[in-house]
Amino acid sequence: MLATHARASVFLRPSRSLCKTLGLIGLVLLGLGSGCDPGDSSPQLACPKGMRTVWHDPLSGIGECEVITPLSEGRSPRSGLEQAFPAMVRPPGALSTPARIELGRLLYFDPVLSGDNTVSCAHCHHPASGFTDNRAVATGIRGQKGGRSAPTVWNAAWNSEQFWDGRAKTLEDQAKGPIQNPIEMDQDPVKLIAELKAIPEYSRRFDEAFRGSGGSAVTLDNLASAIAAFERSIASVNSPFDRYAAGDRTAMSESATRGLNLFRSVSTRCFECHELPTFAMKEYKVLGVPSLGDPTKLDEDRGRATVMPGASYERAFRVPTLRNVAKTAPYMHNGSLKTLDEVLDFYAKGGGLGRGYKLDNVDDKIRKFDLTAEEKADLVAFLEALTDESLLPEVPKLVPSGLPVAQGPLQ
Ligand code: HEC
Ligand code: HEC
Repeated sequence: MLATHARASVFLRPSRSLCKTLGLIGLVLLGLGSGCDPGDSSPQLACPKGMRTVWHDPLSGIGECEVITPLSEGRSPRSGLEQAFPAMVRPPGALSTPARIELGRLLYFDPVLSGDNTVSCAHCHHPASGFTDNRAVATGIRGQKGGRSAPTVWNAAWNSEQFWDGRAKTLEDQAKGPIQNPIEMDQDPVKLIAELKAIPEYSRRFDEAFRGSGGSAVTLDNLASAIAAFERSIASVNSPFDRYAAGDRTAMSESATRGLNLFRSVSTRCFECHELPTFAMKEYKVLGVPSLGDPTKLDEDRGRATVMPGASYERAFRVPTLRNVAKTAPYMHNGSLKTLDEVLDFYAKGGGLGRGYKLDNVDDKIRKFDLTAEEKADLVAFLEALTDESLLPEVPKLVPSGLPVAQGPLQ
């Protein structure tokens, strides 16, 4: 909040009286309504659902939307389980304006981003498939398979760093990766920019969102900013667990409530890595995940060590969010565990060491524990209670390129 307000001040926030005057002039001379927000709570921008206006400068027409989280309106927590979401990770100058969010939504679903116009971001992160592809490893352009599983985009805006190994700092940096990656979208950015400029609707939308003219705002940086603005609207913050944490004891089943207690227990230690309120963590941890296809072997992916040299980072991966995890099977960076049941068995047996893999740097919180069938069902019920897809964005029927849009869940 503080950070967004600090940014807003460069645009000179209008005073209440200036607002009134502008409103009158607008009404009388231009036939416009008073779209002025001096900082009070009245929503003025056409923000997507679940978002509200943070500030709005009627002179420039610029303003910003942000996701409403349970405590962002200033209410105090109703239980120890309710914790305020931190600010989303944003590079300086990032603005979530309605025009950028909408442009980002169109780009996200548009296969024009790929070299042969067949693959969009949604082909690997589709909203109807938990913003992933429900495949073990992603399949990109010309059917090529990558080595890692597509993570969900739900709440990616709160990730400390992007990718399983954290090699991108921001969503803006991240978005440029798959476009140019030869096995994902295999696109030449110079060609892409020329293609987008030649599509009048994109030219106009980029100019509107980034103050250009004649298509001058169509650039790779602006494309990444628009997609990132869209991704910052993809939030899951109102699950049954959140309602339970806010005092509604009927929001979760008895089984899920028992599961929550197990999740927080000293035997499972789940809570020590998957922390409130994101159920993720800034750190990279070693579990010793099996290889995909051969459960007798340790996965060879070096993870964080490819970004940050050091023995402790060998096979370490970022602790992912568990929000909407019931929608994003299969699991782990390589999709090697098919179900939540399999994930729980993996943890209960003591991770990779419990499977007998040779490893000397597994996190000390990964230890064998006993889990009855009922307790396992309770933990799964709790993980399912972290589901909230109420802010699913609409899949566009049409995108400016006219290319076909993947509408449904991915096969
Ligand atoms: C071919 C499938 C594929 C396509 C197309 C694709 N992605 Fe991904 N995406 C992945 C995979 C796989 C990863 C994880 C890679 C890794 O960690 O090394 C990933 C990671 C991400 C992440 C990081 C999430 C996290 O939790 O770290 C975001 C955000 C993301 N993609 C957004 C996008 C956007 C935006 C586009 C379009 C510009 C896109 N992806 C296109 C497969 C794809
Ligand atoms: C030491 C920290 C740590 C602890 C403790 C821990 N996790 Fe994890 N969890 C991780 C990391 C790191 C990953 C990703 C590992 C990978 O992909 O190689 C992960 C992945 C997962 C996933 C898969 C998510 C996805 O999107 O693929 C689930 C589900 C999960 N954990 C649930 C749990 C549960 C339930 C517990 C308690 C039994 C638990 N975790 C305890 C660090 C931890």
